[in-house]
Amino acid sequence: MSGFQPGNGRTARAKRGDKRGAEARPDETVTFAAERAAAGIDDIIGELNRDLVGLAAVKKRVEEIAALLLVDRARQRYGLTAPRPNLHMCFTGAPGTGKTTVALKMATLLHQLGYLQTPSLVHAMRDDLVGEYIGQTAPKTKRVLDRAKGGVLFIDEAYYLYRGTDSKDYGQEAIEILLQVMENDRDDLVVILAGYKDRMEVFFESNPGMRSRVAHHLDFASYDIEELTAIGRLMLDQANYYMSPAAEQALRGQVSAMMTGPHFANARTVRNELELSRLRHAHRISSDLRRAWTRDDLMRLEAPDILAAEPAGGAPA
Ligand SMILES: Nc1ncnc2c1ncn2[C@@H]1O[C@H](COP(=O)(O)OP(=O)(O)OP(=O)(O)O)[C@@H](O)[C@H]1O
Ligand SMILES: [Mg+2]
Repeated sequence: MSGFQPGNGRTARAKRGDKRGAEARPDETVTFAAERAAAGIDDIIGELNRDLVGLAAVKKRVEEIAALLLVDRARQRYGLTAPRPNLHMCFTGAPGTGKTTVALKMATLLHQLGYLQTPSLVHAMRDDLVGEYIGQTAPKTKRVLDRAKGGVLFIDEAYYLYRGTDSKDYGQEAIEILLQVMENDRDDLVVILAGYKDRMEVFFESNPGMRSRVAHHLDFASYDIEELTAIGRLMLDQANYYMSPAAEQALRGQVSAMMTGPHFANARTVRNELELSRLRHAHRISSDLRRAWTRDDLMRLEAPDILAAEPAGGAPA
Protein backbone atom coordinates (compact mmCIF):
# COMPACT_ATOMS: atom_id res chain seq x y z
CA MET A 1 0.00 0.00 0.00
CA SER A 2 1.28 3.46 -0.88
CA GLY A 3 0.92 6.72 0.96
CA PHE A 4 1.85 5.59 4.47
CA GLN A 5 3.09 8.71 6.15
CA PRO A 6 5.28 8.05 9.13
CA GLY A 7 4.73 11.26 11.05
CA ASN A 8 6.26 12.95 13.99
CA GLY A 9 4.66 11.25 16.98
CA ARG A 10 4.14 14.48 18.85
CA THR A 11 2.25 16.30 16.11
CA ALA A 12 0.31 13.20 15.22
CA ARG A 13 -0.77 12.86 18.83
CA ALA A 14 -1.66 16.53 19.15
CA LYS A 15 -3.72 16.23 15.98
CA ARG A 16 -5.55 13.22 17.36
CA GLY A 17 -6.47 15.19 20.46
CA ASP A 18 -4.85 12.60 22.71
CA LYS A 19 -5.65 13.57 26.26
CA ARG A 20 -3.12 11.22 27.80
CA GLY A 21 -0.55 13.97 27.50
CA ALA A 22 2.95 13.73 28.87
CA GLU A 23 5.88 11.99 27.24
CA ALA A 24 6.93 8.82 29.05
CA ARG A 25 10.48 8.43 30.35
CA PRO A 26 12.31 5.48 28.77
CA ASP A 27 12.42 3.63 32.12
CA GLU A 28 8.72 4.23 32.86
CA THR A 29 6.35 1.27 32.56
CA VAL A 30 2.85 1.05 31.21
CA THR A 31 -0.13 -1.06 32.35
CA PHE A 32 -3.06 -1.56 30.07
CA ALA A 33 -5.63 -1.53 32.84
CA ALA A 34 -4.70 2.12 33.29
CA GLU A 35 -4.60 2.72 29.53
CA ARG A 36 -8.05 1.18 29.07
CA ALA A 37 -9.49 3.15 31.96
CA ALA A 38 -8.06 6.42 30.67
CA ALA A 39 -9.67 5.90 27.29
CA GLY A 40 -12.96 4.59 28.71
CA ILE A 41 -12.61 1.47 26.57
CA ASP A 42 -14.22 -0.92 28.99
CA ASP A 43 -17.44 1.09 28.99
CA ILE A 44 -17.76 0.85 25.22
CA ILE A 45 -16.77 -2.82 25.05
CA GLY A 46 -19.11 -3.55 27.96
CA GLU A 47 -21.94 -1.80 26.15
CA LEU A 48 -21.19 -3.76 22.98
CA ASN A 49 -21.36 -7.02 24.91
CA ARG A 50 -24.50 -6.02 26.79
CA ASP A 51 -26.47 -4.58 23.87
CA LEU A 52 -25.60 -7.12 21.21
CA VAL A 53 -26.40 -10.82 21.33
CA GLY A 54 -23.90 -13.16 19.62
CA LEU A 55 -21.55 -11.60 17.03
CA ALA A 56 -18.52 -13.17 18.73
CA ALA A 57 -16.20 -12.68 15.74
CA VAL A 58 -17.19 -9.03 15.35
CA LYS A 59 -16.73 -8.31 19.05
CA LYS A 60 -13.32 -9.95 18.97
CA ARG A 61 -12.29 -7.80 16.03
CA VAL A 62 -13.44 -4.63 17.78
CA GLU A 63 -11.34 -5.66 20.82
CA GLU A 64 -8.34 -6.20 18.54
CA ILE A 65 -8.71 -2.79 16.94
CA ALA A 66 -9.04 -1.19 20.39
CA ALA A 67 -5.88 -3.04 21.50
CA LEU A 68 -3.97 -1.92 18.41
CA LEU A 69 -4.82 1.71 19.11
CA LEU A 70 -4.14 1.50 22.84
CA VAL A 71 -0.68 0.12 22.14
CA ASP A 72 -0.14 2.71 19.39
CA ARG A 73 -0.97 5.50 21.87
CA ALA A 74 1.33 4.08 24.51
CA ARG A 75 4.16 3.70 21.99
CA GLN A 76 3.77 7.30 20.92
CA ARG A 77 4.34 8.49 24.48
CA TYR A 78 7.72 6.75 24.38
CA GLY A 79 8.47 8.48 21.09
CA LEU A 80 8.13 5.19 19.17
CA THR A 81 6.70 6.73 16.06
CA ALA A 82 4.95 4.67 13.40
CA PRO A 83 2.43 5.46 10.69
CA ARG A 84 -1.07 5.94 11.98
CA PRO A 85 -2.83 2.58 11.69
CA ASN A 86 -5.16 2.38 8.71
CA LEU A 87 -8.69 2.40 10.11
CA HIS A 88 -10.88 2.16 7.02
CA MET A 89 -13.21 -0.80 7.36
CA CYS A 90 -15.69 -2.97 5.56
CA PHE A 91 -18.71 -4.44 7.35
CA THR A 92 -20.40 -7.25 5.46
CA GLY A 93 -23.60 -9.06 6.35
CA ALA A 94 -27.28 -9.49 5.61
CA PRO A 95 -29.82 -6.79 6.57
CA GLY A 96 -30.42 -6.31 10.28
CA THR A 97 -27.27 -8.05 11.49
CA GLY A 98 -25.99 -5.05 13.46
CA LYS A 99 -23.64 -3.31 11.00
CA THR A 100 -24.93 0.21 11.61
CA THR A 101 -25.16 -0.37 15.35
CA VAL A 102 -21.53 -1.53 15.56
CA ALA A 103 -20.38 1.31 13.27
CA LEU A 104 -21.88 3.84 15.71
CA LYS A 105 -20.03 2.20 18.58
CA MET A 106 -16.84 2.12 16.52
CA ALA A 107 -17.13 5.88 15.94
CA THR A 108 -17.37 6.43 19.70
CA LEU A 109 -14.44 4.10 20.31
CA LEU A 110 -12.19 5.82 17.77
CA HIS A 111 -13.12 9.21 19.17
CA GLN A 112 -12.42 8.20 22.75
CA LEU A 113 -9.06 6.79 21.78
CA GLY A 114 -8.25 10.10 20.09
CA TYR A 115 -8.22 8.80 16.51
CA LEU A 116 -11.24 10.86 15.46
CA GLN A 117 -12.12 14.43 16.33
CA THR A 118 -15.81 13.68 16.76
CA PRO A 119 -17.83 10.53 17.52
CA SER A 120 -20.20 11.36 14.68
CA LEU A 121 -21.20 9.08 11.84
CA VAL A 122 -22.53 10.30 8.51
CA HIS A 123 -24.59 7.73 6.66
CA ALA A 124 -24.47 7.87 2.86
CA MET A 125 -25.71 5.78 -0.04
CA ARG A 126 -25.16 6.03 -3.77
CA ASP A 127 -27.74 8.78 -4.28
CA ASP A 128 -26.03 11.00 -1.73
CA LEU A 129 -22.73 10.78 -3.59
CA VAL A 130 -23.46 10.30 -7.28
CA GLY A 131 -25.21 12.86 -9.51
CA GLU A 132 -27.42 12.20 -12.51
CA TYR A 133 -25.79 14.73 -14.79
CA ILE A 134 -22.28 15.69 -15.67
CA GLY A 135 -20.65 17.99 -13.12
CA GLN A 136 -22.93 17.01 -10.23
CA THR A 137 -21.00 14.13 -8.73
CA ALA A 138 -17.82 15.82 -7.50
CA PRO A 139 -19.62 18.57 -5.57
CA LYS A 140 -22.12 16.06 -4.18
CA THR A 141 -19.43 13.70 -2.97
CA LYS A 142 -17.35 16.55 -1.55
CA ARG A 143 -20.33 17.90 0.36
CA VAL A 144 -20.82 14.54 2.06
CA LEU A 145 -17.09 14.27 2.78
CA ASP A 146 -17.13 17.74 4.35
CA ARG A 147 -20.02 16.77 6.59
CA ALA A 148 -18.29 13.55 7.63
CA LYS A 149 -14.89 15.15 8.24
CA GLY A 150 -13.46 14.38 11.64
CA GLY A 151 -15.73 11.35 12.12
CA VAL A 152 -16.92 8.23 10.32
CA LEU A 153 -18.37 8.14 6.81
CA PHE A 154 -20.56 5.04 6.60
CA ILE A 155 -21.34 4.07 2.99
CA ASP A 156 -24.23 1.63 2.87
CA GLU A 157 -24.42 -0.77 -0.08
CA ALA A 158 -21.17 0.68 -1.40
CA TYR A 159 -21.24 -1.63 -4.45
CA TYR A 160 -24.05 0.42 -5.99
CA LEU A 161 -21.46 3.13 -6.58
CA TYR A 162 -19.97 0.99 -9.30
CA ARG A 163 -21.82 0.13 -12.49
CA GLY A 164 -19.11 -1.38 -14.63
CA THR A 165 -21.36 -1.94 -17.61
CA ASP A 166 -22.64 1.63 -17.82
CA SER A 167 -20.06 3.96 -19.35
CA LYS A 168 -22.26 7.01 -18.70
CA ASP A 169 -22.43 6.33 -15.00
CA TYR A 170 -20.82 8.83 -12.64
CA GLY A 171 -20.29 6.36 -9.80
CA GLN A 172 -16.68 5.87 -10.79
CA GLU A 173 -16.08 9.59 -10.29
CA ALA A 174 -17.31 9.32 -6.70
CA ILE A 175 -15.13 6.26 -6.15
CA GLU A 176 -12.03 8.13 -7.41
CA ILE A 177 -12.66 11.00 -4.99
CA LEU A 178 -13.23 8.57 -2.13
CA LEU A 179 -10.02 6.71 -2.93
CA GLN A 180 -8.07 9.95 -2.82
CA VAL A 181 -9.56 11.07 0.47
CA MET A 182 -9.13 7.63 2.04
CA GLU A 183 -5.46 7.85 1.21
CA ASN A 184 -4.65 11.48 1.87
CA ASP A 185 -7.01 12.46 4.67
CA ARG A 186 -6.71 9.34 6.77
CA ASP A 187 -6.13 11.35 9.92
CA ASP A 188 -9.42 13.20 9.46
CA LEU A 189 -11.85 10.59 8.29
CA VAL A 190 -12.57 6.89 8.71
CA VAL A 191 -14.61 5.27 5.94
CA ILE A 192 -16.72 2.19 6.65
CA LEU A 193 -18.16 0.41 3.61
CA ALA A 194 -21.13 -1.83 4.29
CA GLY A 195 -23.24 -4.33 2.40
CA TYR A 196 -23.77 -7.95 1.44
CA LYS A 197 -20.57 -9.96 1.46
CA ASP A 198 -20.77 -11.45 -2.04
CA ARG A 199 -21.62 -8.15 -3.72
CA MET A 200 -18.87 -6.39 -1.80
CA GLU A 201 -16.43 -9.04 -3.02
CA VAL A 202 -17.42 -8.32 -6.64
CA PHE A 203 -17.04 -4.59 -5.97
CA PHE A 204 -13.52 -5.09 -4.60
CA GLU A 205 -12.63 -7.28 -7.59
CA SER A 206 -13.47 -4.36 -9.89
CA ASN A 207 -11.93 -1.77 -7.55
CA PRO A 208 -8.65 -3.14 -6.24
CA GLY A 209 -7.68 0.35 -5.07
CA MET A 210 -10.62 0.30 -2.71
CA ARG A 211 -9.76 -3.16 -1.38
CA SER A 212 -6.20 -2.13 -0.62
CA ARG A 213 -7.37 0.90 1.35
CA VAL A 214 -9.61 -1.12 3.65
CA ALA A 215 -7.68 -2.54 6.59
CA HIS A 216 -10.39 -4.30 8.59
CA HIS A 217 -13.03 -6.62 7.25
CA LEU A 218 -15.74 -7.53 9.74
CA ASP A 219 -18.28 -10.15 8.74
CA PHE A 220 -21.67 -10.10 10.46
CA ALA A 221 -23.16 -13.60 10.35
CA SER A 222 -26.92 -13.98 10.14
CA TYR A 223 -28.50 -14.96 13.45
CA ASP A 224 -29.94 -18.37 14.24
CA ILE A 225 -33.31 -18.76 15.90
CA GLU A 226 -31.79 -19.02 19.40
CA GLU A 227 -30.00 -15.72 18.90
CA LEU A 228 -33.06 -14.07 17.36
CA THR A 229 -35.16 -15.13 20.35
CA ALA A 230 -32.50 -13.86 22.75
CA ILE A 231 -32.42 -10.57 20.80
CA GLY A 232 -36.19 -10.32 21.24
CA ARG A 233 -35.88 -10.91 24.99
CA LEU A 234 -33.16 -8.28 25.24
CA MET A 235 -35.12 -5.69 23.25
CA LEU A 236 -38.16 -6.22 25.45
CA ASP A 237 -36.10 -6.11 28.62
CA GLN A 238 -34.62 -2.76 27.57
CA ALA A 239 -38.16 -1.44 27.21
CA ASN A 240 -39.47 -3.01 30.47
CA TYR A 241 -41.56 -5.66 28.78
CA TYR A 242 -41.22 -9.41 28.90
CA MET A 243 -42.78 -12.46 27.25
CA SER A 244 -44.75 -15.19 28.98
CA PRO A 245 -43.32 -18.65 28.15
CA ALA A 246 -46.14 -19.16 25.64
CA ALA A 247 -45.43 -15.78 24.07
CA GLU A 248 -41.77 -16.67 23.65
CA GLN A 249 -42.77 -19.91 21.95
CA ALA A 250 -45.03 -17.89 19.68
CA LEU A 251 -42.26 -15.45 18.80
CA ARG A 252 -39.93 -18.32 18.03
CA GLY A 253 -42.50 -19.88 15.70
CA GLN A 254 -43.33 -16.57 14.05
CA VAL A 255 -39.69 -15.62 13.42
CA SER A 256 -38.77 -19.14 12.24
CA ALA A 257 -41.51 -18.93 9.65
CA MET A 258 -40.24 -15.55 8.44
CA MET A 259 -36.55 -16.53 8.29
CA THR A 260 -36.79 -18.04 4.84
CA GLY A 261 -38.87 -15.19 3.43
CA PRO A 262 -37.42 -12.67 0.98
CA HIS A 263 -37.88 -9.68 3.31
CA PHE A 264 -36.35 -11.23 6.40
CA ALA A 265 -34.04 -8.74 8.10
CA ASN A 266 -32.64 -10.58 11.14
CA ALA A 267 -32.77 -8.48 14.31
CA ARG A 268 -34.76 -5.72 12.58
CA THR A 269 -37.53 -8.20 11.79
CA VAL A 270 -37.60 -9.18 15.46
CA ARG A 271 -37.80 -5.51 16.45
CA ASN A 272 -40.67 -4.89 14.02
CA GLU A 273 -42.56 -7.97 15.19
CA LEU A 274 -42.23 -6.82 18.77
CA GLU A 275 -43.43 -3.33 17.88
CA LEU A 276 -46.57 -4.94 16.48
CA SER A 277 -46.90 -7.10 19.58
CA ARG A 278 -46.69 -4.02 21.74
CA LEU A 279 -49.54 -2.55 19.74
CA ARG A 280 -51.68 -5.67 20.18
CA HIS A 281 -50.84 -5.85 23.87
CA ALA A 282 -51.90 -2.22 24.33
CA HIS A 283 -55.10 -2.84 22.44
CA ARG A 284 -55.89 -5.99 24.44
CA ILE A 285 -55.32 -4.23 27.75
CA SER A 286 -56.98 -0.96 26.98
CA SER A 287 -60.07 -2.49 25.39
CA ASP A 288 -61.14 -4.02 28.67
CA LEU A 289 -62.25 -0.80 30.23
CA ARG A 290 -63.38 -2.06 33.62
CA ARG A 291 -60.73 -4.63 34.44
CA ALA A 292 -58.02 -3.64 36.96
CA TRP A 293 -54.63 -4.44 35.39
CA THR A 294 -51.47 -4.82 37.47
CA ARG A 295 -48.02 -3.44 36.83
CA ASP A 296 -47.02 -6.92 35.70
CA ASP A 297 -49.90 -7.00 33.20
CA LEU A 298 -48.52 -3.78 31.70
CA MET A 299 -45.17 -5.49 31.16
CA ARG A 300 -46.12 -9.00 30.04
CA LEU A 301 -46.76 -9.94 26.43
CA GLU A 302 -48.93 -13.01 25.90
CA ALA A 303 -49.00 -15.39 22.95
CA PRO A 304 -51.97 -13.68 21.24
CA ASP A 305 -50.01 -10.41 21.35
CA ILE A 306 -47.21 -12.03 19.37
CA LEU A 307 -49.26 -13.84 16.81
CA ALA A 308 -50.72 -11.76 14.05
CA ALA A 309 -54.44 -12.16 13.49
CA GLU A 310 -53.93 -11.99 9.73
CA PRO A 311 -52.91 -15.11 7.79
CA ALA A 312 -49.24 -16.18 7.95
CA GLY A 313 -47.03 -14.22 5.54
CA GLY A 314 -49.29 -11.17 5.77
CA ALA A 315 -47.14 -9.41 8.34
CA PRO A 316 -44.51 -6.95 7.17
CA ALA A 317 -40.83 -7.94 7.43
N1 LIG B 1 -26.84 -8.86 17.98
C1 LIG B 1 -27.84 -8.02 18.24
N2 LIG B 1 -28.37 -7.97 19.46
C2 LIG B 1 -29.38 -7.10 19.75
N3 LIG B 1 -29.92 -6.26 18.86
C3 LIG B 1 -29.43 -6.26 17.61
C4 LIG B 1 -28.37 -7.12 17.24
N4 LIG B 1 -28.08 -6.91 15.93
C5 LIG B 1 -28.90 -5.96 15.52
N5 LIG B 1 -29.71 -5.55 16.51
C6 LIG B 1 -30.78 -4.53 16.42
O1 LIG B 1 -31.44 -4.72 15.17
C7 LIG B 1 -31.71 -3.51 14.52
C8 LIG B 1 -31.04 -3.48 13.17
O2 LIG B 1 -29.62 -3.41 13.34
P1 LIG B 1 -28.69 -2.55 12.37
O3 LIG B 1 -29.46 -1.38 11.86
O4 LIG B 1 -27.41 -2.28 13.08
O5 LIG B 1 -28.47 -3.61 11.21
P2 LIG B 1 -27.73 -3.42 9.81
O6 LIG B 1 -26.83 -4.59 9.67
O7 LIG B 1 -27.13 -2.07 9.73
O8 LIG B 1 -28.92 -3.56 8.78
P3 LIG B 1 -29.00 -3.01 7.25
O9 LIG B 1 -28.02 -3.80 6.46
O10 LIG B 1 -30.40 -3.33 6.85
O11 LIG B 1 -28.72 -1.56 7.32
C9 LIG B 1 -31.23 -2.42 15.46
O12 LIG B 1 -32.35 -1.99 16.19
C10 LIG B 1 -30.24 -3.12 16.37
O13 LIG B 1 -30.19 -2.53 17.62
MG1 LIG C 1 -27.53 -0.47 8.48
